[in-house]
Amino acid sequence: MGAEETLKLLRQSSTYVSGEKISSSLNLSRTAVWKHIQSLRAMGYDIKAVRNRGYLLVDETAVLSPDKLQARLNEACIPITIDHTASLPSTQTKAMRLAAEGAPAGTAVTADEQTGGRGRLGRPWSTPFGTALAISVIFRPEMDMREAPTATLTAAAAAAEALEELGFTPQIKWPNDILLNGKKVCGILTEMQGEEDRVSSLVMGIGINVNTREFPEALQDIATSLAIVRGSSVSREEAAFRLLSRLHERMEQFQHEGFQAVRPVWEKHALSHPKPVTVVQNRRKLKGMMKGIKADGTLLIETEDGEVHSIVSGGIDI
Ligand code: BTN
Repeated sequence: MGAEETLKLLRQSSTYVSGEKISSSLNLSRTAVWKHIQSLRAMGYDIKAVRNRGYLLVDETAVLSPDKLQARLNEACIPITIDHTASLPSTQTKAMRLAAEGAPAGTAVTADEQTGGRGRLGRPWSTPFGTALAISVIFRPEMDMREAPTATLTAAAAAAEALEELGFTPQIKWPNDILLNGKKVCGILTEMQGEEDRVSSLVMGIGINVNTREFPEALQDIATSLAIVRGSSVSREEAAFRLLSRLHERMEQFQHEGFQAVRPVWEKHALSHPKPVTVVQNRRKLKGMMKGIKADGTLLIETEDGEVHSIVSGGIDI
């Protein structure tokens, strides 16, 4: 958490703070201090660095402020309430707990950092401090559990639209990975609570790599961020506002008109087909041509023998 402490020191001073002072106060190496300054800059903090003087916090208006985000949502009459914490194990886990305790639809749990972020299929999801978006929104749609796959596709359509509004060209990889230039920039985890077949709450957890500049080696070929693609930082507040606006709008449409109204949006952004893919389901792998989706959100794959398979869950490799 050195970045937060470095920021605290900079905030306390109206003049330059030397790198030496920061490193001795926080018991950090000068390289570590420099890294924290860089990550604070990636979060939107405008920090001046002057040789022999040190660092000065000039402006922090570009940083994601939950209050400013809430004010923008209120002004746009979007009924979403931000529940923000600087650091959480997982916004999804917190939102699922709040949903079980009766939190209203429209509660959006956000964090600047997740220490135990959860991905689909039990995978971990990384949200380094201040450079990404981690948002889990509670919905209470009137729907049957069997409609859950299409709700998930609806969230992907909304996220793709939000990225398009920010000037990107996103592509959806079934069911709900969002790619830029073939690499993953956004992941969506949908979880539900309910009794018998009825859904009582649906929690949409969305992670977007916004200003992430470096990924661990294992992810370098498959992950990207908005900043890497654009070549400059992107406002997290703007990205969060666009995402929540589109998500609210498309979920309303989903509830009132059904997935058939949202399906063209999902299809407009989906990876074009036919395309050769491998479906990964538990331990089973199926190779074939992706043929699009059915009205219930399942993926159609035609294998070499001409048989068409309907895939309900899992992921695809392209
Ligand atoms: C995926 O595997 O592609 C889904 C990733 C979902 C990550 C988001 S970040 C916000 C929310 N909190 C979590 O712990 N997971 C989701």
